[in-house]
Amino acid sequence: MNLKTEFIKYFVLKGHVEIPSAPLIPENDPTVLFNTAGMQPLIPYLLGEPHPKGKRLVDAQKCVRLTDLDSIGDKTHHTFFEMLGNWSLGDYFKKESIEYSFEFLTKVLNIPIERLAVTVFAGDKDIPRDEVSFNIWLNLGIPKERIAYLGVDDNFWIAGDSGPCGGDTEIFYFRSDDEIPKTFDPTDERWVEIWNNVFMEFYKDEDGKISVLSQKNVDTGMGLERVVAVLEKVDDNYKSSIWKEIIKAIESISGKTYDGNEEAMRIIADHIRTSVFISADPAGIKPSNTDQGYILRRLIRRAIRHAKKLGINTNEDWMRSIALEVIKKYENDYKEIKENKEVVLEVLKKENEKFSHTLEKGLKEFDKMLANIDGGLIDKDSAFRLYDTYGFPIELTLELALEHDLKVDVEGFQEKFRQHQELSRTASKGKFKGGLMGHSEIETKYHTATHLLNAALKVVVGLDVHQKGSNINEERMRFDFSCDHKLTEEEKKAVEDLVNKWIKEDLPVSMKTMSKEEAVKEGAEAMFMEKYADMVNVYEIKDISKEVCGGPHVTHTNVLGHFKIIKEEASSAGVRRIKAILE
Ligand code: ALA
Repeated sequence: MNLKTEFIKYFVLKGHVEIPSAPLIPENDPTVLFNTAGMQPLIPYLLGEPHPKGKRLVDAQKCVRLTDLDSIGDKTHHTFFEMLGNWSLGDYFKKESIEYSFEFLTKVLNIPIERLAVTVFAGDKDIPRDEVSFNIWLNLGIPKERIAYLGVDDNFWIAGDSGPCGGDTEIFYFRSDDEIPKTFDPTDERWVEIWNNVFMEFYKDEDGKISVLSQKNVDTGMGLERVVAVLEKVDDNYKSSIWKEIIKAIESISGKTYDGNEEAMRIIADHIRTSVFISADPAGIKPSNTDQGYILRRLIRRAIRHAKKLGINTNEDWMRSIALEVIKKYENDYKEIKENKEVVLEVLKKENEKFSHTLEKGLKEFDKMLANIDGGLIDKDSAFRLYDTYGFPIELTLELALEHDLKVDVEGFQEKFRQHQELSRTASKGKFKGGLMGHSEIETKYHTATHLLNAALKVVVGLDVHQKGSNINEERMRFDFSCDHKLTEEEKKAVEDLVNKWIKEDLPVSMKTMSKEEAVKEGAEAMFMEKYADMVNVYEIKDISKEVCGGPHVTHTNVLGHFKIIKEEASSAGVRRIKAILE
């Protein structure tokens, strides 16, 4: 059975018109690099403009999400993916939407109802809880123990900060051979979300004010890769039929098996597939140092590095056979893949030629740097040399550093990068913002928010919570910490509330330079004290936190905005991971 075909066929039968996927690179929205959801190209129609094809639409939309780039390598994440979706533009609402989803899952896909559970919106101070959806599910035969009410963080959907939005109901599938628990626990990771139905009836403006839209819409999204894995009963997305031939091509060129080399092979498979789609897009993106071109370069170069790890001879055009499998798989569905096949193969070949030689030299240089490292930190000059002379995207240097438990002076690198850009007069200010490293102002805020989160976890969860790692980009912060249990909803809420309380209190942030001994004596926290140089910077947030840190930080907490946890998950044994945003 072909899930995409069945999905489209089902909704066409229900009066929907199939529309083609919009290009991966938005045509009319310079504020985002890629389409990240099926609804993104439909925003004007969700806001009320009549769609030429009517009020019921269905499609498979090509998406790229960069927020999960450093999770690639696990079983479930993909940079590029296809999102199946159906829309009602001011036509049907909750009842039909839920009934369609239920019928499609249980009658077309034959998923037993026992394996399904759902969440519905618990409401907030302005919006009542969604008893309508609750009762629709109940009437369809989902027992009440399998319906959970969840709040804004889980069941209210918006793309980015402003735009059409609304409460949603999410459908979960029990992906395990274990006995299915009678009561649904949304925090139990054996339940995986397979479909999200958003009831878009509101509009959030830039100041966060919510108003009612002129029409009630439905926007749904189903991750194709995930559901195909569910249907094929594999517990690793990359073992499904979608990836089979692509992984086989990597096995063949490396002479290694997938078993035992999963991480590198997943990264290579994911990054080459994404690169094929980006370079086939009508926008004509080529590897470069800004915007989408930079993402393309980063993906290809990271794939090359992992190919080297597998022992692939990267001096040859090794990506070709893998890319050809990707092209074969998608060329009938997406005409740009067929039409731009030669362009895609040329892009990959050229970028490989450019980087594979310097990568080898750069890795040697990196090893030399390791011998002379000071204070566990790759300094800005070294990071910049790796970039400028050997073509290492800063993220590649960060990945290498992480593998050696080292840090990188990213701020210093950015500063040098900016000076270099100004000197060569190649990048406009606007380009830089969307390009290489993101916006340093927001990153600075995330640095400070990390300290607040660390402190709040100690208050809420316990003093034995310790930082195990962190990672910041312009879209979010990630924080790993020691903890023996999954945080409860109450704990997450309490942590958020506490951080937001401290933000509102507008606490001053100060910095003092002192010796390591003094820092320890003062009770400053540090993740790898032994790795720092003799003199360290200690950042203090008044009465809340004291940490050894490279900075930079804001001077007062009230500029941080609103802190929100978007995900809490296991990172490794005894270590949890929080992803959070400032909005
Ligand atoms: N737009 C919704 C999502 O991406 C359906 O989850």
